[in-house]
Amino acid sequence: MAECDKLAESGRRFFLSRGAVAAVGAAAVAGAIPASEAEAAPAPARITYPVARVANVGELKPNEPVPISYPDPDSPGVVMKLGTRVAGGVGPDGDIVAFSTMCPHKGFPLFFRADDRSLNCPGHYSRFDCEKGGLQIWGQATANLAQFRLAIAANGDISAIGVDELIYGRISNVL
Ligand code: FES
Repeated sequence: MAECDKLAESGRRFFLSRGAVAAVGAAAVAGAIPASEAEAAPAPARITYPVARVANVGELKPNEPVPISYPDPDSPGVVMKLGTRVAGGVGPDGDIVAFSTMCPHKGFPLFFRADDRSLNCPGHYSRFDCEKGGLQIWGQATANLAQFRLAIAANGDISAIGVDELIYGRISNVL
């Protein structure tokens, strides 16, 4: 038993000595970074989105997506009336939403399924829930679908005013 205690004690000393060396090393590295470099870190990106009319309430029928582009012509999407009030939905029934139709995995064009109000990828079968802000239901994508934020005017005009999540293939939603 005494032998066992010695082994445990030597192991404890080894651990503590190595830990002390690591702590001193980390402190030296942290102290070596000049304050000017730390202050040179880039500020978070700020994006100004365009406001673009994409449809009018009177043009939309439940579960019939209308093709749009936002925030520029190279970014296809759809605006749709779901027929059920959803979080983030606009319009008199709170059910109008818009999404990018480029799959966040590899950019395949998505198609709409009215039976469960999802956007679906023919490439590798990812699926996104239009009633839940583009939440990924299943598949190989590693991000939710980019949703276009909407605003509605008194005359029923629907405008896209921003984007949640990154549009496929971009390092910034506004190029
Ligand atoms: Fe859509 Fe791969 S491109 S899942």
